[in-house]
Amino acid sequence: MPKRDFLQIPDLTADGIGSLLELAGRMKAGSYRERPLVGKTLAMVFAKSSTRTRVSFEVGAYQLGGHALFLSSRDLQIGRGEPIKDTARVLSRYVDGIMIRTFAHADVVELARHATVPVINGLTDFLHPCQILADVMTMQEAFGGWQGRVVAWVGDGNNVANSWLHAAGVLGFELRVACPEGYEPDREVFERAKRTAKVSVYEDPEDAVRGAHVVTTDVWASMGQEAEVDARMLAFKGYNVDAQLMSLASPDAIFLHCLPAHRGEEVSDAVIEGPQSRAFDQAENRLHVQKALMVELMGGEGGR
Ligand code: CP
Ligand code: NVA
Repeated sequence: MPKRDFLQIPDLTADGIGSLLELAGRMKAGSYRERPLVGKTLAMVFAKSSTRTRVSFEVGAYQLGGHALFLSSRDLQIGRGEPIKDTARVLSRYVDGIMIRTFAHADVVELARHATVPVINGLTDFLHPCQILADVMTMQEAFGGWQGRVVAWVGDGNNVANSWLHAAGVLGFELRVACPEGYEPDREVFERAKRTAKVSVYEDPEDAVRGAHVVTTDVWASMGQEAEVDARMLAFKGYNVDAQLMSLASPDAIFLHCLPAHRGEEVSDAVIEGPQSRAFDQAENRLHVQKALMVELMGGEGGR
């Protein structure tokens, strides 16, 4: 069996996401007791900060009987210029899977091309697919599925927004993005989603949120955009999810945020702490979906 990577949501089909979430649901309910990662190691390469991704992968690997290694790219030889392709081949001789969080998406593609073990994208400047697996699980818990549901994204057309578009394309729900001009999601990702789902971009957040079942947002300046913070604070003025905006959504709407959140910027304290917020269930679901993913990619008999 060739190794399988998870670099983007379209690496899975709708059925594949369905069975992954079914397994994640059993894990969350406590009815899954197997330990298919006994004797196996996940290398976790981080070039950016992380709370959720690092801890959920590490704890998840442990709960499945395996082990996870935290590797800061600053301390690896990669930080001193060792080629990605060499790092990929060397790590593949030691470990059974590699999770990487970095800047350029092309670096993750390169790593996956040269690694002989599964590679999982733990966030790039372009995509955040593990996050969106947790998000669609949270959506499924709230509504039983995605059919006929509308998701409104408010704010920056960033890595998380691009992965939401991927999910809309694969699962077929409606996605409305509200963002200022110049901060739209990736054009190609948008066009691809448009082939199989109703997706649209608005300038006015109210147009996107009206009647939506999920309202979601993210920070205005992502990791790596620190130099743009001042310009972004101005550009995103008015793109904050507050109680007034939430009141336009469907009465049963939920609020999602991948976290970390900046209260008073993209979301008000009242919304993230309010009854419609599922942000902390969403964070918990990272653990369950990633455990299911590790079982699928790394849990088989096949080794290096
Ligand atoms: N949502 C998310 O990926 O969080 P971390 O940056 O803490 O991993
Ligand atoms: N868009 C954010 C997500 C953090 C989980 C970032 O890339 O920093």
